[in-house]
Amino acid sequence: MLRTHTCGELRAEHVGQTVTLCGWVMNDRDHGGLAFIDLRDRYGLTQVVFNPDRDPQMHQLARTLRSEDVIQVTGEVMSRGNDRENPKLATGQIEVRVHKLQILNKSRTPPFEPGAAELPNEELRLQYRFLDLRRETLQRAMALRHRFCKVVRDYFDAQNFLEIETPILGRSTPEGARDYLVPSRVHPGSFYALPQSPQIYKQILMVAGYDRYFQIARCFRDEDLRADRQPEFTQIDVEMAFVDQEDILSVIDGLIREVLTKLHGVTGEITIPRLTHRDAMERYGNDKPDLRFGMELVDIAEIAGQCGFGVFKNVIAGDGRVRGLNARGAAEKYSRKMIDELTAFVGDYGAKGLAFFRVKDGALDSPIAKFFSQEDQQAIIDRMQAKPGDLLLFVAAESSVTSAALAALRNRLGRELKLYDPREIRCCWVLEFPLVTWNAEENRWDGEHHPFCQPNPEDVGHFEDDPGQIRALSYDLVVNGYEAASGSVRIHDPKIQQKIFDLLGINAESAEERFGFLLEALRYGAPPHAGIALGLDRWVMLLCGNDNIREVIAFPKTQKAADLLSGAPSDVSPHQLRELHIKTDLPQ
Ligand code: AMO
Ligand code: AMP
Repeated sequence: MLRTHTCGELRAEHVGQTVTLCGWVMNDRDHGGLAFIDLRDRYGLTQVVFNPDRDPQMHQLARTLRSEDVIQVTGEVMSRGNDRENPKLATGQIEVRVHKLQILNKSRTPPFEPGAAELPNEELRLQYRFLDLRRETLQRAMALRHRFCKVVRDYFDAQNFLEIETPILGRSTPEGARDYLVPSRVHPGSFYALPQSPQIYKQILMVAGYDRYFQIARCFRDEDLRADRQPEFTQIDVEMAFVDQEDILSVIDGLIREVLTKLHGVTGEITIPRLTHRDAMERYGNDKPDLRFGMELVDIAEIAGQCGFGVFKNVIAGDGRVRGLNARGAAEKYSRKMIDELTAFVGDYGAKGLAFFRVKDGALDSPIAKFFSQEDQQAIIDRMQAKPGDLLLFVAAESSVTSAALAALRNRLGRELKLYDPREIRCCWVLEFPLVTWNAEENRWDGEHHPFCQPNPEDVGHFEDDPGQIRALSYDLVVNGYEAASGSVRIHDPKIQQKIFDLLGINAESAEERFGFLLEALRYGAPPHAGIALGLDRWVMLLCGNDNIREVIAFPKTQKAADLLSGAPSDVSPHQLRELHIKTDLPQ
């Protein structure tokens, strides 16, 4: 080893020892003739000191050091003395008085300093990711990611699960995004698809008798990217045989308890509440409610339907809904101009307006208050459980618009009004998703999940009269407003599977063509089975208190699915294309 200790290791008890450290040069400064350097590695920072009286030549050399040069120093650990201690630094009680300096490598002047408090733009950070990864926040995220995987593996191992790898070069899978394709050289004109998830293989493993499977699995999806989505991401993928929904939920409840206790310092009992999809839509307006705060949606149809305000009355008469939120104590925090901004914001979700009332003693204050009788105002106050100083906001529109607009508004107000501690983690299960939703544009039923979800046996009567009423035996785990896991009980009966394909308009030929190998396996004694997959990147992002998934992936891709470090995707040589029998036909 080129070092005796790391840069985060030395404490008062090491005073007097001779040590050797290696690391990167961070801050250099001169004081009273002495040269000081903060030496950095992934364990921390140590102040090292060069004294010209001790060795003028070495001191001279130290003064030529620049940011990010890599050095090795040997010296004596000294106490800094009470007045010069740095309580913010783990090694702040000591410094190393150097008597030997070796420059292991010089660095070019970096385009940004990993140690600087201010961040450069993300493009530069991604291009020079090797510098960016030297930053403490990324190092912490990488360490947390590692520990998360360790907790997961230990947890499943202790419960008899086997981690089994499934192919990366495979056949198209049914998660609903576009596939990444890989051309085959050996089979001209044929392509592998990178897995959108191990879904089909894990179900086949159940047929094969591996009744408890998990995998930390890489997945690939060519879809529009967002702050919480990457084209290449990691799932903690789980499948179990001879189980029902409850078994999956309780195994994952146990995993989440382990994770939050071991990695997030949560003490005491952790219970994960369960909501039905219908309840979530009603109370929060979406299927991934942030439960760190209340502010639930309230329906005021009875009052709106007979009040004097035309907009409300007409919407109710036209089968729409009037729903609202009570932003407690916010009446004076939102000026007219800010409410105009909120109105534009809900407009993005299709709301044609945002009615607002400031609550005064027993009455409502608003440009539209005059349309509401004294009784109606009191009824709104009662229904919203409002108190003087509250701000009431309403959207009148078709049901889906009130949900989408108010869900977004609720999240925004929760954040702006600081209704929660950003470090807090609040999970919930959302159950009983609809099996299918109507796609009006294309005039057909779309699956909510993949086509292997088991319909709730109580609802199978609706296949003929109203498929929209069929609930799936499916479940999402929602964390702080993010979908952090998703799964279902699977169909193991070929007759029900056929019904689903029929409903989704997947004809027998197309089903055979796409999933024939799974369907064939299901004919050879498939046990009842169920599973789930957790989004690992999203979990680590949430545990880090971040809202950008790229901050927890070592080498992430941009919104345009590019890797700025390596320059992927890139051109390939004509020779490579010829070998693959591929001719490109590029847009102008
Ligand atoms: P699903 O498609 O819902 O289910 O994915 C499971 C979880 O993976 C995470 N996730 C993503 N994370 C980052 N970037 C993405 N592009 C991305 N897409 C999904 C989410 C999501 O909840 N095979 C099924 C699981 C099953 O039924 O067992 C599946 O893949 O956190
Ligand atoms: P208008 O009648 O368009 O001048 O709107 C009067 C007030 O009602 C404004 O504050 C609008 O934002 C609000 N408003 C208009 N349409 C709606 C709607 N669909 N839902 C809620 N509020 C609305």
